[in-house]
Order: sequence, then C-alpha cells, then structure tokens
Amino acid sequence: MCENMQYTTISFKPLSTTIIQIMNLVVLVTFLLSLFLLSLSYIFKNKYSSVRVPPGSLGLPVIGQTISFLNALKADKVEEWVHKGVSKHGPIWKTNLLGYPTVVLHGPTANKFIFTFDVNVLTNTSPPSFSRIMGSKNIFELFGYDHKRVRAALLSFLKLDVLKQYVAKVDEEIKHHLQIHWHGKNEVQVQPLIKTLTFNIICSLVFGIEKGPKREKFLPLFKDMIEGLLSIPINLPFTKFSRGILARKKMEPMLIDLVHEKRVALENKKHLANHHKDLITTFLSIGDDEDSSTMMSDEEIIDNIIVVMIGGYDTTSILITFLVKLMADNKSIYSNIIQEQEEIAKSKASDEALTWEDLSKMKYTWRVASEMMRINPPTSLVFRRAMKDIEYKGFIIPKGWQVLLYSFMTHMDKDIFEDPAKFDPTRFEKHAPSPPPYTYVPFGAGPRMCPGIELAKMETLAMIHLLVRRFTWELINKDESFKRIPLPEFDHGLLARITPLK
Ligand code: HEM
Ligand SMILES: *[C@@H]1O[C@H](CO)[C@@H](O)[C@H](O)[C@H]1NC(C)=O
Repeated sequence: MCENMQYTTISFKPLSTTIIQIMNLVVLVTFLLSLFLLSLSYIFKNKYSSVRVPPGSLGLPVIGQTISFLNALKADKVEEWVHKGVSKHGPIWKTNLLGYPTVVLHGPTANKFIFTFDVNVLTNTSPPSFSRIMGSKNIFELFGYDHKRVRAALLSFLKLDVLKQYVAKVDEEIKHHLQIHWHGKNEVQVQPLIKTLTFNIICSLVFGIEKGPKREKFLPLFKDMIEGLLSIPINLPFTKFSRGILARKKMEPMLIDLVHEKRVALENKKHLANHHKDLITTFLSIGDDEDSSTMMSDEEIIDNIIVVMIGGYDTTSILITFLVKLMADNKSIYSNIIQEQEEIAKSKASDEALTWEDLSKMKYTWRVASEMMRINPPTSLVFRRAMKDIEYKGFIIPKGWQVLLYSFMTHMDKDIFEDPAKFDPTRFEKHAPSPPPYTYVPFGAGPRMCPGIELAKMETLAMIHLLVRRFTWELINKDESFKRIPLPEFDHGLLARITPLK
C-alpha cells in the first residue's frame, strides 16, 4: 500500500524518464515481493493450522528455552519445567531446545508411543552436540539396518551368557580398586572414586586394556567429552562443548591405534578357538564366518567404543554412588543389605571370587537398586528427531523437529506408584503387582532399550557386596546435594568418612 502511494507521488515529479523507469521497477519489484511473501506466509500458516502443530512458543531462534531448560536440568527440576509448559499450553507443547524446534511429551502413552515408534522415522539424531562429540556412526545416531547390526554386535558381547564369564574379573578389579583407593584413607570422595572404578572395569572387559598408564591417559579425555555432550552447543574456545570436541580429537588416534593392535592380535590368534574376546575384538570378528554384510567399519568401531565408554561408565557409577548415600542415610535398608550379603559370604571361602550364582542371590540389594532408579534415574532425558511428519493425539510433530520425552514423569505419578516420594523397595518384590508397561523405564524400552542392563547390574551388586564387607562409612555433609550436568554430580563428590572392617 505504502509503496503504491509513493509510486503515485513520485510519478508526478518532473524527473528524468530513466529515473522514473528505475523507480517504477524498484517499486513494482518491492510490491510483488511483499505480495509473494504475504501469500507464502498465508499458505504456510494454513498448512500448519490444518495439521495442528502443538501450542507453545519457539522463543528466540537457536537459544529458545535452552537456558531455562538446562537450569531446570541442573537443579533436577525438569519435572517442574515440564509442568510449567503443560499448565501454559496443555499436555503436548512446543518450544525451542538445543537448536531445534521441539515437542515436549510425557506420560505412559507418550512413553509407549516414543519408545516403540519405528526407529527409521523417529531417529535419535539429536541434540546436535551429541554427534559432534560421539561421532556420526555411534549407535544412538544409527537407524534401520545399521542400527540393528551395531546393536546386535553390542549385544553379542553384553548378553548374560558372555558376561557371566567376567564376574571373577569384575571381582578382581573391585578388590584392586578398594586396596588402592579406599584402604588407608579416612575420608573419600565417593562419586569420583566409583567413576574411576567403573571406568577401569569397562577398560578391562570391553577393551582389554589392563591396569597401567594407558588407562590413565583416557580418563580425563572421557570426562571432558561427557561434559561437552549436553552443554549449549556453542563452539567457542573455553566452552564445555569445545573442550568435548577437542577431547574427541585427541582420543581418536589413540583408539585407532588400539583397534589396529587388536586386529593384528586377532589375526595371530585366529587358530586358537575360544580365547577371551573383549568388545573391540568382538567387533572386529563380526562378519568373519557368517554374513560379511554385518561387518563393522573402523569408524563404526571407534564411535561405538566411545558410546559404550560413555553409556557404561557414568550411569552405573551414579547408581552405585546413590546407593552408598542411601545406606548411610537409612539404617534399616543398610542392615537388610548387610544381612543378605553376609549370608552369601558365609557360603564361601574368605578370599574366593564372586560367582554368577552369588550375584543372582542378591535379590533384596537389587530391589533397593531398582527403587533407587525409580526415584533417581541416572539418565533423565530421551531425545528423538522426526524424519517425517508424525501424528500424535491429534497433533503433528513436523518433519525435522525434535521430541523431548521426559519419560521419568511416570516414576513419580501417584496413580502408578502409590506414595511416590516414599523410598520403598517392596514395590519390586516378586508378589507385588508389577508397574504397568512403559511406566518404569530407567533403561528405556523398545528397540533402543539399554543393552547394558546386565553389565550395570553385575558391577553394582559386586561393588556393594565387597564394599559393605570391608568398610563402614558416614557422610561428612549429611545433606550434600547433586546437580544434573547432565548426569547427577554431587557438589563435593559425596564426601564420606570411612572405617575399615576387620
Ligand atoms: C545403571 C546403568 C544404566 C542406565 C540407567 C542406562 C540407561 C539407558 C537408557 C535410558 C537408554 C535408552 C536411551 C534412549 O532411548 O534414548 C540407554 C541406552 C543405551 N545404553 Fe544404557 N544405561 C545404563 C548402563 C549401560 C551400560 C553399562 C552400557 C554399556 C556397557 C550401556 C550402553 C547403552 C547403549 C549402547 C545404549 C543405546 C542403545 C540403542 O540405541 O540401541 N548402558 N541406556
Ligand atoms: C528407610 O527405608 C524404609 C524402607 O523403605 C522406610 O520405611 C523408612 O521410612 C526409611 N527411613 C528413613 C530414615 O528414610
């Protein structure tokens, strides 16, 4: 409109024809362009209003609600953050998180929908900071046949029958760890110590890297990578994100060397049947005898070593740390655990290694761990990306958008778990009614459910057994709290005073 009026005024001025012609052209182009944009936005609006994108605000581009979300995550208040959105917009709403427009979902139906949806359509390719640090061929990013193939490779190592052979090795690693890091100390920082322990167990089982300086070079790099994973993805010097990327760059050649070393060793040992295989060797042998299309590339091997390192080390150490705290806080649970563990110890010679049978008798201890994962799940977020428009409960999740499923909302739902704030391991007793499907999900569910459950269970039970029989402990700060950055991290590493038992 404005342009038109200007056009009329200008055309009456005694200017040279050329100028008038140029002005005409400029005005015409501007007019047509605004018409075009107007109609485009009309079409755009119409398209989306007919399929109903969830309500909510996308906020500032790129940053959106990322900062408020990361703060809520840190304070372990994602539940409140989700509730806030729900009370503003309804149960299904949109925002902008970590660089993507995002639909936020929660509840049993959403858990089932997201966990079981076709992994080719609802992929795991997010948030973007993940793939920069974990590599583009890590299992979280894969879908379709590649996901199936890499997952099968992982499971061929992480399945119960294979892991059972490693109980004595885990026992040995824990005893060594307690000897070096706990004995002779009055005070310890529980969380960092247990991280070191789970890191060493993974190094030994999964990579066949035995004790020594090689392990020590890896540890700080992994710590930087993990910190970078869910930081705000800004690649400027001194951000956690850039430190994570740098750590990956430093680690890559170390892992490439390791893979080459294992390949040579495998060639040399091929004629020996049944030698112990670590995960890397298992990866390298896939496709050897059967179907060569299942073979893994070096890039896949390296990215998935990193996944197992990260997936297997932090999560399990957090569970064990929470249990150490719980046993200090709750004497009745502590004495029940002691009783169960003493019973098992009685049946063995004093220095005999734990066996698979021993672990399978630790039923009470595992119920306590299960209840711990209900109240304090080690991981807390499930992200997916829509490869097509997906319809859910009358809304559309547009192609390219991200989904944040806050799956643990159901753990605190009073309609599912009576008196949800109460710590009550009897919920997991054999005769107790089991929670409805998709409502207790510390390990996820469906085709992407955690393949590391048995390993996590093995490490947790063995560590609790050896710890309670060697030490007593009390917390130095009775109410030391933790932040999720993104995984729970105690403010002072969970400081404890320890006393060895005779
Ligand atoms: C208490 C310990 C653990 C907890 C609570 C845990 C939790 C989870 C959860 C919730 C998922 C699903 C994520 C999603 O759907 O987006 C997952 C996936 C995964 N976890 Fe674990 N985990 C634990 C231990 C382990 C261990 C010990 C390993 C490996 C040695 C491991 C390796 C993985 C891998 C590779 C995936 C991806 C699977 C896929 O995408 O197909 N986790 N974990
Ligand atoms: C300890 O745990 C028991 C069993 O769940 C519970 O009944 C009790 O209230 C807890 N005690 C404390 C001090 O938290």
